[in-house]
Amino acid sequence: MLDQGAAPPVATPPPSPGRNGGTGVMRRKPVELLVSEGGKGEGGSLRRTLSMWQLTMISIGATLGTGIFVVLGEAVPKAGPAVTISFVIAGLTALFSALSYAELAGSIPVAGSSYSYAYATMGELIAWVCGWCLVLEYGVSVAAVAVGWGEYLNELLDGTFGFTIPDALSAPPGDGGIFNLPALIVVLLAMVFLLGGARESARINTIMVAIKIGALLLFCVIGFMGFKSGNYEDFMPLGMAGVSAAGATLFFSYIGFDAASTAGEEAKNPQRDLPRAIMLSLIIVTALYVLVAAVAVGAQDWEAFEGSEAALAGIMKDVTGQAFWGTLLAAGAVIAIASVVLTVLYGQTRILFAMSRDGLVPKAFSKVSPRTGTPRVNTVIVSLFCGVLAAAIPLGKLVEATSIGTLFAFALVNVAVVILRVRRPDMNRTFRVPLGPVFPVLGFAFCAYNMFSLDTATWVVFGVWMAAGLVFYFGYGFRRSRLAKNPGAGASVTAEK
Ligand code: ALA
Repeated sequence: MLDQGAAPPVATPPPSPGRNGGTGVMRRKPVELLVSEGGKGEGGSLRRTLSMWQLTMISIGATLGTGIFVVLGEAVPKAGPAVTISFVIAGLTALFSALSYAELAGSIPVAGSSYSYAYATMGELIAWVCGWCLVLEYGVSVAAVAVGWGEYLNELLDGTFGFTIPDALSAPPGDGGIFNLPALIVVLLAMVFLLGGARESARINTIMVAIKIGALLLFCVIGFMGFKSGNYEDFMPLGMAGVSAAGATLFFSYIGFDAASTAGEEAKNPQRDLPRAIMLSLIIVTALYVLVAAVAVGAQDWEAFEGSEAALAGIMKDVTGQAFWGTLLAAGAVIAIASVVLTVLYGQTRILFAMSRDGLVPKAFSKVSPRTGTPRVNTVIVSLFCGVLAAAIPLGKLVEATSIGTLFAFALVNVAVVILRVRRPDMNRTFRVPLGPVFPVLGFAFCAYNMFSLDTATWVVFGVWMAAGLVFYFGYGFRRSRLAKNPGAGASVTAEK
């Protein structure tokens, strides 16, 4: 439950010496050390400028995008009108994990998000694995989402000016394209905003979120005018199996609700606001998803969704009989997907910031510009990496590994809640997951179930990704970790307090 009122920035009582620990790959970073480092980077500090509202918008910004504008069209042929239930099922997986995120973000409000929660509870190796999964969730998904942006941009250009960027310069490499210029452009635009500062980026994101919510609500109003109750007669044409398969596909549309937790070191009142922002964003997004899906399958026969790339735009056009409305929705989608790129890129830079401060990735990632209070070098490196990945590399199966990586990180967050409840029952928690360990266990089970529903090829790619991560950890992070160099860091923080 949410506690009322603001909590002080560092509200956890110091543990007694020796409570933290672990050695080698199991070494753990004390919660107090994590929290006391909040904001501090190399040569400067991040600035606490973000309000609860802006944090909520960051999470909605990172969540609402390709899933509803594109993936919905792929899910309807699997579930029929019961796709609304599929959204609820996918939302449940997200909900249990969101509750766990809310508890941990309220007690350990730092930029590393689940990577840092794992560091405090399960040791450095698991934390590294979690951080490496987050690169899949954030870094690789930025590249994938940027590729999708190019497709909608072409549709908008076609509807507005009657021309499109040629395939060679706009299609994904390996899919008829040579270099995906729009994908690079949207990532570089996001970089420019991020370099300007977290507050400036949050402001532009808030405007973009308002536009995308507006576009979806407009779709609901127009789609409702074409609503035919007969479309609901065969509600579950492919049975429960179809509904679950569509739910697994739609999980992608919930990825990103955790983005606010990466803003822990730039939030004005993180312990109070982060849990609220995470839960509020999930509620708003789920309500919108169910509403949009219900209207979409009411306005168009479920079988007609097969093979439709921009289903929502097509419905707007059909219901009104005017191409203008389809183009307007394409414009909404262009803005929606750009805001996913902006906020997910933001999250990736902050996670690497925390990992760099711990010595697990190079120091350049935690350098902060004293002028803007942002990790500028980090932002440029991450943006160029994601931009080139999106523009020039065939992502193929790596994109499918995004969901498995995210689910793995979510599963670890559920475990971390239980461990911290046992190990640190005394800790101040501004939000507690209701029903003790029951919900985190359910959250873990949902994540595991979804992971095992994914195909073997995805697991193989995930295995290769993890193996590469372990090579990096043992070749670099294990020896350079700050805890390896200074094993007494936890004790000294404890003694100082
Ligand atoms: N949830 C994000 C989207 O749907 C990744 O674009």
